[in-house]
Amino acid sequence: MDKRFKRTLVTGALPYANGPVHIGHLAGVYVPADIYVRYLRLRGEDVLYVCGSDEHGVPITIKAKKQGVSPQDIVDKYHKIIRDSFSGLGINFDIYSRTTSEVHEKTASEFFRKLYENGKFITKETEQYYDEESGTFLADRYIVGTCPKCGNPDAYGDQCEKCGSTLSPEELGNPRSSLSGGRLVKKNTTHWYLPLDEYEPWLREWILENHKEWKTNVYGQCKSWLDGGLQPRAVSRDLDWGIPLPVEGTEGKVMYVWFDAPIGYISNTRELLPESWEKWWKSDDTRIVNFIGKDNIVFHCIVFPSMCRAEGGYVLTDNVPANEFLNLEGDKISTSKEWAIWLQDYLKDFPGQEDVLRYVLCANAPETKDNDFTWKDFQARNNNELVAVFGNFVNRAVVLTQKYFGGAVPGNPKPADIDAETLARIPECRRAMESYLETFHFREALKEAMDMARIGNKYISDTEPWKTAKTDMDRTASILYTSLQICADLAVAFEPFLPFSAEKLRNILRVGIDAGRDYRAGEGSPTVNFYKDGEGRALHTGSPESGEDRPVLTWEMLGAPELLSPGHRLGEAVLLFSKIEDSVIEAQTARLDEIRRKHSGTPQKAECTFEEFGKMDIRTATVLEAERVPKTDKLLKLTIDTGFDRRTIVSGIAEQYSPEEMVGKQICILANLKPRVIKGIESRGMILMAKQQDGRMRFVTPHESVSDGAEIS
Ligand code: 2FM
Ligand code: ZN
Repeated sequence: MDKRFKRTLVTGALPYANGPVHIGHLAGVYVPADIYVRYLRLRGEDVLYVCGSDEHGVPITIKAKKQGVSPQDIVDKYHKIIRDSFSGLGINFDIYSRTTSEVHEKTASEFFRKLYENGKFITKETEQYYDEESGTFLADRYIVGTCPKCGNPDAYGDQCEKCGSTLSPEELGNPRSSLSGGRLVKKNTTHWYLPLDEYEPWLREWILENHKEWKTNVYGQCKSWLDGGLQPRAVSRDLDWGIPLPVEGTEGKVMYVWFDAPIGYISNTRELLPESWEKWWKSDDTRIVNFIGKDNIVFHCIVFPSMCRAEGGYVLTDNVPANEFLNLEGDKISTSKEWAIWLQDYLKDFPGQEDVLRYVLCANAPETKDNDFTWKDFQARNNNELVAVFGNFVNRAVVLTQKYFGGAVPGNPKPADIDAETLARIPECRRAMESYLETFHFREALKEAMDMARIGNKYISDTEPWKTAKTDMDRTASILYTSLQICADLAVAFEPFLPFSAEKLRNILRVGIDAGRDYRAGEGSPTVNFYKDGEGRALHTGSPESGEDRPVLTWEMLGAPELLSPGHRLGEAVLLFSKIEDSVIEAQTARLDEIRRKHSGTPQKAECTFEEFGKMDIRTATVLEAERVPKTDKLLKLTIDTGFDRRTIVSGIAEQYSPEEMVGKQICILANLKPRVIKGIESRGMILMAKQQDGRMRFVTPHESVSDGAEIS
């Protein structure tokens, strides 16, 4: 680590507590951060990994309203689900707290008050949309209207979900309230703003000059924000869910969720280390690294640093290794479309295979571009890499040692060149791993670790100890001695990536590791794993409860000669990984197919009122005559008996229905549709058809015959 720093504080973006976490979150943020933290711990660094639930913000209130519960009920539910599922995947936070905690409210309020008192905010009175029926100002998300870019009639005031454009409520056509469905009025309201424009020159220097080492996607996004010019950003909202503004005369206003959320990193540290948290946030020898997804870049690189600069007491982030997005089976992960693999489901469906997901998400991490997760790839990586290479190698080495040497590491009586050449490649992989890990290239680092397993697997295949055992036990001893040294290397190298399997392997080899702390520690809420601040770190020997005296491996020993001495007794051989059958994968893809089908229809249109519906005069009617409209493929001219008149309707059904089929059919029509002239014929009304997903249309007709002109309501 850079000599300027004595400790590293790693943060994982605080997930919103309005839904469970999915593989996109994991691949983008939590798995890479966890790998990094585990690696730093192995290197003996002083490191803290903090996270927690982001429990404020409008989407949580929307979900609560929809479900008829309070926002607190929503966040209580998801906080627990998220916390437990992270822990199930071995994501090893020192603390996983929440932004509804007391410490957080206190910390965020102190932060806000300091900025307020030091005149760091500006206030602005602006006109905002107000829903008179509900008696509230509306957050952008609550305003719906027509998207100016694609015409979607149900775009939100902050974003159109159809075309993905970022919007402001002012841009929407026909804006209305999604709470009451009613029209909106504009009313004045005062808010506090952080004048980001004033921080622009400083940000340009801090990021563009002094942080050229940031990932290109991060640096590039910052540059384009800065080049576009920064505007003051509101830090308050008219809302009844959030941290109340801690200043007089601001009733009904709360902090904007993106103001309090990043302060959560500070409050969570403070909650974990009430006595010593300031050391982690207020001394220049702390290095802060924020792991986030690409949608959070502006908040972590521009807004939060400006807030900290305004506050004056906190150290700024040193790096923000943001990832791109992970897609699922070719489509963007979408919570609303249920297009995701939820961590909690994975843990239920694949017990004991936590590391397979960690492996696939890291091997496939969207580090430089969006990437795709597919179940086929998941299966292939498990079966062809984890099982066939890593697991197979370890199993062969251990089982043969048990068979020929009674489960004790043999001596090395007959070394050969291939042994030394093979072992010499391990430190090369280690060096490459270190340089990749330290520059946030986790995929490459994992590849190097896997290369170590490949080297071992190839070595044992090439040297064939099962054959030498028939003629030359000395040579067999040397081959297994060498193989077991590589197994021990793997037990260290894979600890950051596959902690469950690395531990299993250490139990097979009966070795321990100095991993800083035990990743299984820490149950309950908030999750606090033990951390001995300033007191050195514990040695982990695999099964502390067994009281066995095991040799302890360290990162520094990776690639060194003789990690396992001759005579050292191995433990029981268990399989590290198991094959995933086609049927398991088919069950998962069938579930996704089901979801695709469910969501492939046209989305529901915007709400309409009973009065609006009542304007439509829908009647039963019978077709008396039908003929094709000349020079068209699609149109039929129909003469209709409505029970109260005869009229002509032109309908686009000629591709599916012939004129002969139509005569005598009872149908339903929208009778009071404004007449339209189609191909020179006046059409008075419209025939109601049900359109299937494949585009085919069917008549909507009364189930039992009724007289023509019956009103449909
Ligand atoms: O995008 C998100 O999921 C946010 N809840 C991330 C917040 S990160 C931090 F600032 F708290
Ligand atoms: Zn749009």
